Amino acid sequence: MTVPTPTPADKFTFGLWTINYLGADPFGGPTRNAFDVVKVVNKLAELGAYGLTFHDDDLFAFGSSDAERRTQIDRLKGAMEATGIKVPMITTNLFSAPVFKDGGFTSNDRAVRRYALRKVLRNLDLAAELGATTFVMWGGREGAEYDSAKDIRAALERYREAVNMLGQYVVDKGYGIRFAIEPKPNEPRGDILLPTVGHALAFIQSLERPEMVGLNPEVGHEQMAGLNFAAGVAQALYHGKLFHIDLNGQRGIKYDQDLVFAHGDLYNAFALVDLLENGGPSGGPAYDGPRHFDYKPSRTEAEEGVWDSALANMQNYLLLKERAKAFRADPEVQAALADAKVAELSVPTLNPGESYADLLLDRSAWEDFDPAAYLNGKGFGFVKLQQLATEHLLGAR
Ligand code: GCO
Ligand code: MN
Ligand code: MN
Repeated sequence: MTVPTPTPADKFTFGLWTINYLGADPFGGPTRNAFDVVKVVNKLAELGAYGLTFHDDDLFAFGSSDAERRTQIDRLKGAMEATGIKVPMITTNLFSAPVFKDGGFTSNDRAVRRYALRKVLRNLDLAAELGATTFVMWGGREGAEYDSAKDIRAALERYREAVNMLGQYVVDKGYGIRFAIEPKPNEPRGDILLPTVGHALAFIQSLERPEMVGLNPEVGHEQMAGLNFAAGVAQALYHGKLFHIDLNGQRGIKYDQDLVFAHGDLYNAFALVDLLENGGPSGGPAYDGPRHFDYKPSRTEAEEGVWDSALANMQNYLLLKERAKAFRADPEVQAALADAKVAELSVPTLNPGESYADLLLDRSAWEDFDPAAYLNGKGFGFVKLQQLATEHLLGAR
């Protein structure tokens, strides 16, 4: 088996903040210097990526003058022109500067909330200028450490107010932009608002324009909460809310590791790629947006390790895509899926037009049905299916 080479058709994108993660953590400072944005664009193009994403403050430092800001935007545009690299998503930094220490949209300080809205409005204009169609909102500082310090219902109401107003702006300006909320359970705040896919889905339904707002789920964020990421993404797809995705690796319930994609829970990465590429076991809606990597090149790495790890993200995705394809095509897998009745779950439980009255008259559903047959019988064979997946993953098939 050869390792596949990524191409722009694979739609792989990277955050500027990922390549430019300098290695600082709470226990030590940077171990690398930042790369110039033009170098990052050139290098990503060379590696076969499709696009770059960024926070406003990744491209021009917080507090830059208008002229400094414009210079950086124009330099990025020049590099995009020269390489064909696209910017399909941008996002706003409402978490690094001291002013956002208690959040942006939900800071207890009203003046900070108004300032945050202005920062985002300005960044929406930039998103439109660069042709971005997705605007991610990760509310890392929107939360609290102490229960008595934050009125959660008021905070959600302010979050709603913010997203509603931003939606109005996009509509009025005629920008073709959709919003994608990125859940995370904690870090940097002790507890973050909209901590999981499920919380965010419920919040979106409360908005004035729910159709404009979806999700940007991240592998590691759901896994930090011990949740099954592929299952969460399947539910987001089910509700038509997978607007964007952050791919990376995480090993269990701990701090946000942001490892290379598939360097964490490999089984779940396999299930995820199968879902995105093949629509899961019974088909269904798959995802055609950017495959966005939000990872951190480990602190131990020098420049070569940064580019090696960027490439590893894309190669791992493509390897899993090949493995998932082979898994689906294997006749033994097809037989095991049939034995496991996986497709039977897509058959409605009631017949067309059948009412509860009809069901009550159906003797096969109760009087003649034998639940005892399920003791010492009628195994589903799910383990066999998982072993076949394992054999495909390990290259034994
Ligand atoms: C994190 C988040 C961020 C966001 C980014 C985009 O845990 O730090 O994943 O990297 O994805 O801010 O909004
Ligand atoms: Mn993260
Ligand atoms: Mn992320």
